[in-house]
Amino acid sequence: MRVPVIAGNWKMNTTVGEAIELVNAMLRELDAVDSVDKVLCPPFVSLSAVKELIKGSSIKLGAQNIYFEEKGAYTGEVSPVMIADLCEFVIIGHSERRQYFSETGEIVNKKVKAALKIGLKPILCIGEKLEENEGGRAEEVITEQINSSLAGIEYPGELIIAYEPVWAIGTGRAATGEQANETIGLIRQNMAELYDNKIAQDLRILYGGSVTADNTAEFMRQPEIDGALVGGASLKADQFLSIVRQTSEIRQVK
Ligand code: PGA
Repeated sequence: MRVPVIAGNWKMNTTVGEAIELVNAMLRELDAVDSVDKVLCPPFVSLSAVKELIKGSSIKLGAQNIYFEEKGAYTGEVSPVMIADLCEFVIIGHSERRQYFSETGEIVNKKVKAALKIGLKPILCIGEKLEENEGGRAEEVITEQINSSLAGIEYPGELIIAYEPVWAIGTGRAATGEQANETIGLIRQNMAELYDNKIAQDLRILYGGSVTADNTAEFMRQPEIDGALVGGASLKADQFLSIVRQTSEIRQVK
């Protein structure tokens, strides 16, 4: 039985003060929800403050990115070693990083390796762009992204994959539950071919892209979908709480 994950990707939002406020607004109620891994991914500068607030609770912490080297003259970068001290998860290869910061499959691969080496659980993001989707190339693109991101990785450990169609991110145009379920099924099949059936069956694969409290249930009822990576709606305590609660409820009867 795969434990669902709801991860909030705050992106480049919230000052440290606002991050503290947001956590305080949902801390107790979020902590009380069981059967779901609840992960907050605030900006780097708020990780320490959030870690302090959630201490002793069931809420987990993730970073939004890492560099692949452990230390050295890389001005402005954050090392996996620094992050491993603070959190359990790290988002890698988000489409915004691929798009605005030129992250290639090779860079994503190095980052996944660096995360696994230090014991961080990567939340690896993959997904096709609108033109790729419309051109019927979604499957091809996703397969390529899986192969390049995981090249040379013999065992993916506690990797999580987030399927995030780029056309659905921040657009309010989410995929349908059925679409997402089908693609996530393909990703699982890919992982079975790349590794083995057991690894593929144990792997948690999330959907991401305009997930809200209103459409959560549609995704969580799908058998292949093991949770969500939530952007915009994770910045609103009541929305995020509702997404987590619905996931927990649906999962118990699934
Ligand atoms: P969104 O972002 O929920 O705002 O669409 C999702 C993501 O980018 O992880």
